Amino acid sequence: MTNKLSLEEELETYFGYSTFRLGQKEIISDVLNGNDVLGILPTGTGKSICYQLPARMLEGTTIVVSPLISLMMDQVKELKAMNFKEVIALNSFLDYDKRKRIFKNLNQYKLIYVSPEMLQQKELQFYLKNISISLFVIDEAHCISQWGHEFRPDYQKLKSVINELGDPPVLALSATATKEVQDDIIHSLDRSIIRHIYPMDRSNISLSIQEVINNDEKLDIITSILSVHKVPSLIYFSSKNAAENVSHLLSERLPEHRIAFYHGGMEQMDRVAIQQQFMNNQIDIICCTSAFGMGINKNNIRFVFHYHFPGQIESYIQEIGRAGRDGNQSISILLYSRQDSFLPQKMIDSELPSDDDLIRVKQLIIRYQNENKIFPVELTEIQAMFGLSEVQWRFISSQLEKHGIKVENGIKYDESKVDETFQQIKYLRDERLYLKQSKLKDMMNWIQLKTCLRSGLYTNFQSGYTSVEEFCCSNCGIDLREFKPKQTTPLIQPSTWEKKLRRLLVVGDFE
Ligand SMILES: Nc1ncnc2c1ncn2[C@@H]1O[C@H](COP(=O)(O)OP(=O)(O)OP(=O)(O)O)[C@@H](O)[C@H]1O
Ligand SMILES: [Mg+2]
Ligand SMILES: [Zn+2]
Repeated sequence: MTNKLSLEEELETYFGYSTFRLGQKEIISDVLNGNDVLGILPTGTGKSICYQLPARMLEGTTIVVSPLISLMMDQVKELKAMNFKEVIALNSFLDYDKRKRIFKNLNQYKLIYVSPEMLQQKELQFYLKNISISLFVIDEAHCISQWGHEFRPDYQKLKSVINELGDPPVLALSATATKEVQDDIIHSLDRSIIRHIYPMDRSNISLSIQEVINNDEKLDIITSILSVHKVPSLIYFSSKNAAENVSHLLSERLPEHRIAFYHGGMEQMDRVAIQQQFMNNQIDIICCTSAFGMGINKNNIRFVFHYHFPGQIESYIQEIGRAGRDGNQSISILLYSRQDSFLPQKMIDSELPSDDDLIRVKQLIIRYQNENKIFPVELTEIQAMFGLSEVQWRFISSQLEKHGIKVENGIKYDESKVDETFQQIKYLRDERLYLKQSKLKDMMNWIQLKTCLRSGLYTNFQSGYTSVEEFCCSNCGIDLREFKPKQTTPLIQPSTWEKKLRRLLVVGDFE
């Protein structure tokens, strides 16, 4: 097995870093020893290396489950720039022929990025079973817990995929995982996992909350700050419309800045293009929903604003964590007006089915069965029929599936089984609702805090945090006029002419 020195040498050889950051070596050593590991390291500190280095060192292929296509593409591009060529992101952009060709030659890749949804494809599973998989990584593993129950049920099916693929060692990584989320991840994967948990506070991000009267005042504050500082910045919104509207308003007010919006309702291609332009410093400000930013490695974001606050502290920590990845002082500013309080609650309501929804769906399923009618398979048709949001329907359908009910197959189920299943769905709904509401309450309580925000933010998650003298938080007192944001060039800096040349020669194709 690799000894202490050689691991550092490997890091230097492949990535050009002379030392490991806190936690990396411990995680990597366990991974190389074939153990299952849950690694929690702060945002932007280098979780990717924890599987990228093993991917280079281990025989066989490393599979990385990643939540976003743009994130996968970014990582592939970065790795190729470092001369790691045997990497690929399997995604919906690949046309049929190309995909088929790639599937047949999967063993030529050392590192394969894939979404949990794509992993469900039987064809892909078939080809994956034919290669030797040395490590199965779940990046952003909190998605299992945070999204797996409603938005992306395929996150809850990873356990069976791992089994299908012959039970390779598993590495789950995240920057934010409370004890409950950690337990949820481990429970869902159903493995005995070694936990490597490190404090997730980021001492170079100042925490500021400003209470305002209304949205106009929010816009005024953002305009006045950004008109002084032309630095890469993110502004988070809870709705797509608000992100778009404010991006237009800001463009009028800040004509010198290049401003764009980004949300999940946009075409995939447009989203990738916006992210790339932001990465390349061709866009300064992005007005976005939570759909933007997970894992993106842009190192010079100086401001993260929250025009609307998220429904839970974990999301907030993730979102502000996109600031200051180069370690330089950066500021997060949450703008809060009393009218905002109902927004997250509205969001929760739109994500989970109500009692009425559940009764309606159940009755319709039973009626269809009794009348021998075939269930529609199109999502939009089903949604229209039940009057549900996509997320609500996904929640119900994944639970039905879990209980062995496949509505679209036209199979007749015992009415009492359907009844009982809906009873179970209702229990789970109540549990999720309670959890989401209590998380929202924690977030609201933190916003109202009168004492140090840093202490209040992290003490619920971990035993200690690094205290900060200057620019700690708005309750300890920060003077934004004192803030002189550092402008840095964000692209990977090749240290030698060789590396520079290599980068020039590498074309940024995304496979
Ligand atoms: N040992 C190291 N020494 C110096 N730089 C490092 C080291 N490890 C990683 N980095 C750099 O740190 C940056 C952030 O890494 P990475 O994107 O893996 O963060 P992350 O932990 O995955 O963050 P997030 O939680 O946002 O996904 C990268 O530019 C990476 O090259
Ligand atoms: Mg990451
Ligand atoms: Zn403070």
